[in-house]
Amino acid sequence: MSQTDFMPLEGWDALELYVGNAKQAAYFYEHAFGFTPTAYAGPETGVRDRASYVLEQNEIRLVLTSGLDPESEIARFACAHGDGVKDVSLRVPNAANAFAEAVARGARGVAEPRRLEDEHGSVELATIATYGDTVHTFVERSAYTGPYLPGYVSTASNGSAASGIGLQSIDHVVGNVELGRMDEWVSFYERTMGFTELIHFSDEAISTEYSALMSKVMTGGEGKIKFPINEPAEGRRKSQIEEYLDFYGGPGVQHLALATEDIVRTVDGLRERGVRFLVATPGAYYEDAARRVGSIDQSWADLQRLGILADRDDEGYLLQIFTATAQDRPTLFFEVIERHGSRGFGEGNFKALFEAIEREQALRGNL
Ligand code: FE2
Repeated sequence: MSQTDFMPLEGWDALELYVGNAKQAAYFYEHAFGFTPTAYAGPETGVRDRASYVLEQNEIRLVLTSGLDPESEIARFACAHGDGVKDVSLRVPNAANAFAEAVARGARGVAEPRRLEDEHGSVELATIATYGDTVHTFVERSAYTGPYLPGYVSTASNGSAASGIGLQSIDHVVGNVELGRMDEWVSFYERTMGFTELIHFSDEAISTEYSALMSKVMTGGEGKIKFPINEPAEGRRKSQIEEYLDFYGGPGVQHLALATEDIVRTVDGLRERGVRFLVATPGAYYEDAARRVGSIDQSWADLQRLGILADRDDEGYLLQIFTATAQDRPTLFFEVIERHGSRGFGEGNFKALFEAIEREQALRGNL
C-alpha cells in the first residue's frame, strides 16, 4: 500500500519547542535567526497555563512555549529535557482521518481529534506520540485564515513575516533514539504513516575513531517530509548520540535542518547576528572538497571563509553547515542546507562533521 492511500500529508505545519523561558527564546530566534514574531497566546489572550510565541520565516514556523505552572506538562518537559522540540506538526487534509488511520495501525493517541474555532474560521487537530516525549499533531487548517491557531493574536506589524535572512523551508527533522531501537521507529513510520526508507548509512561509513552511529532516513508526504533516525553504535569512546540521550533524558529531536537558496548570504547573516557554528572546518577540507565535489556555482573562498561543507552524489550537490547546540545542554542544534539536485544528507561530510562534533564533546569532558 502506498502512503497516499491512507496518510496524505500536505507538508510541515510547525515545530513547537517547549522551553524554560519562551519570551527570551523568542528574542533569540528573532534576532539571531532572523525570524519574525507573528502570533502570541498567553495570559493576556485568555490562556492561563502557558505563553506561546509564533515566529515565521518564509515557509518555516516555530512555536516557543513555556509553562506558567510548575506542575504542568510543559514545565515538567522543560525540566526533564531542557529546551527541546515537543511537537513536529504535519499539515493534513483531514486530521480525524489521519489520527484514526495512525492509531488503527498502532500509533498511541495523545489527544483525540478536536475542533477549535474563532472569528477566522476553524481548525481540526489530533495528536499521536512518537519517540520519547515527542509528538506529531495532525493539523487541518484549510478552513482557517487567522494567525496560526484560534486563541492566538497577531503580532506581525504588517500582518506577515519578513523574508529574514533567507531561511526558506524545513528540509528534515532528525531524531535520536536508544541503542537497538532505530529499526522499531523506522517500522513505526512505515506502519502508522506509510513512510518509506530513503537511504541507509552503514555504521562503517560514519564511524570515527571514538564514536559511531547508525542512521536511516524515513520519508513521507511524497518526499516533502524527511525524518532521519539515529541510534548510537559501538565505538571506542562514548557515542555523541549517547551523550545526547544522557543530557536530554531519552530520545528526542537532535537537529532541525532549514533550507536556504543562498547559503552564503544566510550564514553571513547568522554569523553577523552571533550564531555560533561547530568548530572551524580545517583548511585541508577545502583542498580535498574541490576535488571531491567538482564544479559548483558558489565561490570556494566564501565557503571556506564561512566553514560551509559541500558534498556531491549522482543527482547533484549540496552545501550544509551545522550550528553549535542552541541551549546549554548538548542536545538540539540546527543545520542550514542548500540543495542543487542532491537529495542526500551529506554522507561525504558525515565523517568530517562527526569529528568536529567530537572535538566539542571533548571540550565538554564527555568523550
Ligand atoms: Fe541533517
